[in-house]
Amino acid sequence: MTVFECKVCGHIEFNEAPENCLVCRSPQTAFQENAEAIKRPADPENLTEGDKKHIPIVQKTACGLVAGCTDVHATVGEIEHVMDAKHFIGYLDYYLDYKFISRIWLSPEVCKPATSLHLAADTGKVIVIEHCNVHGNWMGEFDL
Ligand SMILES: [Fe+2]
Repeated sequence: MTVFECKVCGHIEFNEAPENCLVCRSPQTAFQENAEAIKRPADPENLTEGDKKHIPIVQKTACGLVAGCTDVHATVGEIEHVMDAKHFIGYLDYYLDYKFISRIWLSPEVCKPATSLHLAADTGKVIVIEHCNVHGNWMGEFDL
């Protein structure tokens, strides 16, 4: 799968660059193909502590706040990532079947590295890309 990265805001799109960035509205020319835009564990079978602190754990939850919705929750990560002023998770971008649906910003020292979203869809693959200000972008996924 081809990965495109917006050089203005860091937003990632799959397969093709959009006419305008869905986060910062920059034109298509701001996107560059970048196979390295999303970090991957060197050995997926043996995750390091660093991998476990960055790969989002995505799961389906039941909050009961909105009728008929499917709730998805993402935590960074299996070992909770720090949220201090110098090292923090700045945002999580959500995708459904590789199409961008939402960015959730997090403030260091105030927010925990976790977000949730209320979806109307009840099938598909949810992908979450988190951005660590020091260690870059990491991806987690979950099949609804
Ligand atoms: Fe980090």
